[in-house]
Amino acid sequence: MNNLIFVGPPGSGKGTQANFLKKHDYRHISTGDLLREEVKSGTPLGEEINSIISKGDLVSDEIVGKLLRSNLDLDNHVYIFDGYPRNKNQARILKEIIGDKPFKVIVFDADLPKIMERICNRRLAPKSGEIYNLVSRPPKRDGFCDVSGEELIHREDDKIEIVENRFKVYGDTKSEIINFYGPSMTAYVDADKEPSVVYEELVKNIN
Ligand code: AP5
Ligand code: MG
Repeated sequence: MNNLIFVGPPGSGKGTQANFLKKHDYRHISTGDLLREEVKSGTPLGEEINSIISKGDLVSDEIVGKLLRSNLDLDNHVYIFDGYPRNKNQARILKEIIGDKPFKVIVFDADLPKIMERICNRRLAPKSGEIYNLVSRPPKRDGFCDVSGEELIHREDDKIEIVENRFKVYGDTKSEIINFYGPSMTAYVDADKEPSVVYEELVKNIN
């Protein structure tokens, strides 16, 4: 079973598809989620991270690398790396971490104006990890998670002007990540399709 590396713009559905794939025994590791956890803890490091995330910029490779390493157990689990790497240096770090374990890179191709709308309508349940959308996947009870009952949140970095910067940051580094791995390690999915169609395409490409 391959470890999976999800590369894609904000809102392209990386977290949504990772949640679908969990039934196949993958562990989902999202560096965005790990960073938000650190922010919640209110430590000086959390405050430093918050000042970067809230602008939509990338947190330093050193901080993210440390958080990632301390949350992995690659000898016993197969992972979906969601949102890591975000540049060539992080790709090098991940190469060292993964070693000779098998992996595949999945690139989520999406039309940015469409996904801007998705992001604005996204609501999250941080504890259960469920991802909702007011248009395409509304919760049964307005404002609350179907699974855990917790209150849903709207991410602070999901404001239009910050998302625009997140798109730019992704556009600036996408090619260096894709070039690092090369075509033989990489599959593309059309992330503009319905979630279930994206999932089918994904499952065909993960082995
Ligand atoms: P992160 O949390 O990783 O954000 P992101 O990469 O911008 O991606 P998103 O989580 O916004 O989108 P997604 O692709 O997961 O989409 P989702 O499934 O939720 O990172 C946040 C920040 O942390 C970064 O900006 C940076 O500051 C920092 N950071 C993180 N990793 C870092 C790293 N490695 N190095 C440095 N800094 C780092 O779906 C979105 C919405 O669309 C949902 O409402 C969903 O229901 C809906 N949806 C999903 N799929 C579909 C579909 N096919 N059709 C219709 N709607 C859909
Ligand atoms: Mg996500």
